Amino acid sequence: MRAALAVILMLLLVLPPAGAHAVPERNVVYQVMVDRFYDGNQSNNGPFYDPSKSNYRLYWGGDLEGLTERLDYIQSLGVSMIWVSPLNDNINRMAHGSAPYHGYWTRDYKRIEEHFGTWRDFRRLVKEAEKRGICVIVDYVPNHSNPSTDGEFGSLYDNGTFVTDYYRDTKNATVNPYTGIRKNVYHHNGNIFTWAGIPLKYANLFGLADFNQLDPWVDSYLTEGALLFVNSGACGFRIDAVKHMELGWLEAFYLRLYSKAPLFIYGEYYSLSPDKTDDLYELYRYSNVSPVLNIPVREDIVRTLGFVGSLETLSRTLEEYYSLFVYPNKELNFLDSHDLVRFLNEAKRKDAIERFHMALALTMTLPGIPVIYYGDESYLVSGDGKGDPYNRPMMVFNNTTEAARIIRTLAELRKTNDALAFGDFRTVYANYSVWAFERTFGSHGLLVVMNKGSPGNLTLPLDWENGTYRDALTGAEMRVSGGKAFLELRHNSFYVFHVEGEQNEPLIGSVTPYTAEPGQRILIGGAGFGSSGRVTIGGVEARVLSWNSTEILVEVPEVKTENAWLDVVVETGGKASEPAKLRYYSGNDVPALIAINATNLTGRLWIKGNLSELAEPRPLLRSSTGYYFTVAPLPNGTAFSVELYRGSSWGELEPLNVTLYGFVNSMVVVLTDEPPIVETETAPAMPTTTIVHRPIGENPLPYLLAALLLLGAALIIWKKRG
Ligand code: NOJ
Ligand code: CA
Ligand code: CA
Repeated sequence: MRAALAVILMLLLVLPPAGAHAVPERNVVYQVMVDRFYDGNQSNNGPFYDPSKSNYRLYWGGDLEGLTERLDYIQSLGVSMIWVSPLNDNINRMAHGSAPYHGYWTRDYKRIEEHFGTWRDFRRLVKEAEKRGICVIVDYVPNHSNPSTDGEFGSLYDNGTFVTDYYRDTKNATVNPYTGIRKNVYHHNGNIFTWAGIPLKYANLFGLADFNQLDPWVDSYLTEGALLFVNSGACGFRIDAVKHMELGWLEAFYLRLYSKAPLFIYGEYYSLSPDKTDDLYELYRYSNVSPVLNIPVREDIVRTLGFVGSLETLSRTLEEYYSLFVYPNKELNFLDSHDLVRFLNEAKRKDAIERFHMALALTMTLPGIPVIYYGDESYLVSGDGKGDPYNRPMMVFNNTTEAARIIRTLAELRKTNDALAFGDFRTVYANYSVWAFERTFGSHGLLVVMNKGSPGNLTLPLDWENGTYRDALTGAEMRVSGGKAFLELRHNSFYVFHVEGEQNEPLIGSVTPYTAEPGQRILIGGAGFGSSGRVTIGGVEARVLSWNSTEILVEVPEVKTENAWLDVVVETGGKASEPAKLRYYSGNDVPALIAINATNLTGRLWIKGNLSELAEPRPLLRSSTGYYFTVAPLPNGTAFSVELYRGSSWGELEPLNVTLYGFVNSMVVVLTDEPPIVETETAPAMPTTTIVHRPIGENPLPYLLAALLLLGAALIIWKKRG
């Protein structure tokens, strides 16, 4: 018995950190480009290193050890999530005149780039960050590996073992009969030449070797690579270039990661404005399956505050934008990034710093989770140029600035004011230069007022208790009396008034992740949860794993439903919350290509079907081989039917009164006119392609654990035998 206990104790000691899974909306993200942050180990700097830090296309020495060393600084800003640039092993050559210092040219998804450190360094970063209440989000790049026409020409390794490169892969490429797409490990359809339809997802983005995620080996390789980070304690991912992958594959990929932990995953969908003809509109309107970086919001803020523009127009655009989301508070707001010109490099105004402070404060008070780009707090800009790569200068550490104070104050307020984290969004007043918006969550409220025009007085309707309220940023006062607020506004000013009452009824503000299948853990955030109670999902009671007044962890039950979204309800002290939404998947899902013979069909087609996964319309692409197709996560071993629709994503869909049938037993499902004859009720095993190289990973822990278990068992047997 004692031996068994000793084994368990040892196991606990060597297990990877569990990862701090917190309610993301209460936190602020700090984005770091690892190479440009802090050099903690000079022995890993070469090759392609520029000690003078003048060539922006070479390595400058930053690494995981350096980032770990600077965690106290990051913590001093009040942020509690760090998004690190991609860490996987990159090509060992220059390509197109640049070294892969940025991390976006991967060659091995199971290894860490040697310029940045090792898996051990990553786990140490996670552990040290956790001690400071910070968790680590990893930038992951499953759309492409590295340049196909230079450098290492798309070379790919599986934990050090060569798999292929773009030219070798071309030789084995075949055309998929249903999609007309040339593919093997990679797609072989040239570069993206039109930014829509098939090329957008199945061609090379700026010459980067584009993965065929529907190949079973590629699918498991990319999933295993991401799981190495999860097992090492990452609390989430920023997924690169989601616009260029099938959403259905991403959904299945996310589900497999979520099955391990309630991660926070968001995507980069590069689009400067949500145009109704953009695929983005479709993504917002129907799927909403993952938060994204609010690039259009950033563009509008920079235009209005960095140049000229009406705050009233901004208020209307943003209200419309946020209305497209099921969980607008889970989208991510940012001002600066490694892809766009930094605000202070872009805004050509005498009062640029004041406007920067206003823009920063706005980014941190709108619906959504704020992202602070490294150096925003120290007014970091490059004198050498503007956009990529000049928006990535070496970090200057200074947390005593006004910008740092704004970041810290609003990050701290977000932890205690639920309206800032979860509140709704309503403009109270707007004109060209003044904007006031209110956010409410139960008994917590927030009133944000900004003025970029002349100083003056403002009276607003405000349903707060009579009294005097103090702005969190400057200490300015606002008097409320008889449903009216009286304020004095300075020029270029920003005020954040807040109120925190007691919440006596359960109120849900956040579900993380909000896409889930049975057995998955989800974290419910909000207020008034008391100390115990029950949670139902789609009317079925969920197993409670932990419960406090603001956070509940539950396991998603199996629900018999064909609906996309289920109600999540918290009950405590005889009161039930308003329902929150959960995007439900039936379970045991695989990413499947759904193909429809299209010889007698025309136009823009959609399908809707009798599974949760297909309950919202999914657009089909038309292939050159006479088929329509899409990709969706589908429950293995399940028969289903779909209805066909025609129309555009922003208009009404017209039913075509055509029913088609399918059965999921492989990664390709060709729909037929007649229901398939299903002979057995047991789910068939999914046919797998031989995995070329067994995924091992640099992480020795699984082996250590297995060895310890064996040792434990041997000890017990030996003890028993006496
Ligand atoms: C978007 C990233 O943010 C950018 O920096 C990168 O170069 C491209 N995706 C390609 O990976
Ligand atoms: Ca270094
Ligand atoms: Ca792609």
